[in-house]
Amino acid sequence: MSKTKIAPSLLAADFGNLQRDIELVDRSEADWHHIDVMDGVFVPNISYGMPVIKAIAKYATKPLDVHLMIIDPDRYIKTFADLGANNLTVHYETCPHLHRTLQAIKAAGMTAGVALNPHTNINVLEDTIRDIDLVLLMSVNPGFGGQTFIENTYKKLRDLKALILHKKTNTLIEIDGGVTSENAKALAHAGADVLVAGSFIFKSKNPIQTIHELKEITE
Ligand code: DX5
Ligand code: ZN
Repeated sequence: MSKTKIAPSLLAADFGNLQRDIELVDRSEADWHHIDVMDGVFVPNISYGMPVIKAIAKYATKPLDVHLMIIDPDRYIKTFADLGANNLTVHYETCPHLHRTLQAIKAAGMTAGVALNPHTNINVLEDTIRDIDLVLLMSVNPGFGGQTFIENTYKKLRDLKALILHKKTNTLIEIDGGVTSENAKALAHAGADVLVAGSFIFKSKNPIQTIHELKEITE
């Protein structure tokens, strides 16, 4: 059994058949549903908001891994907890009081994630890593699915792994953007605990089989 978690990103699902695609992920070997929330301000795209997530939560049986690409995420922490989010990830770049935000997420009953843009160095997390359940490394610039994986992510992954080992924390590492069967094995071996994949899964002929292959590759 693969210990690497696979989190299909619903951003690449067929929104006209959202229930079908959620149930597909639930039937598959995937571990989490990855839900991308974009505000058109922090990132140059708008995805979906509360009513759609409410509908997703109604059908989903696997944990909801919510990735907020929005400014001032503190305003919505309780709302996402009420919607049923299990993990809530905020961007480092949007949080001037990151420590406070992390405590608020945990107080609301969720695990707390921090996402780093491709240009943000790992060392900004040195003083908060003990409070972080999951670090999401963006391996593309956030805002769109279907982009090309940025190779410098491997270096960041190694640096982050070293920081986690040094500080002796249980923080999970999640890689998000451009994940395919080409890079999944190397990412898992370099220490990734969770791989997000959108286009590679949902644009494939047989998403359930593609998820199975990702699990197998990362064994
Ligand atoms: C991008 C999102 C990703 C995206 C990944 O801003 O955070 O989760 O859906 O899509 P792919 O796998 O197509 O790069
Ligand atoms: Zn994401």
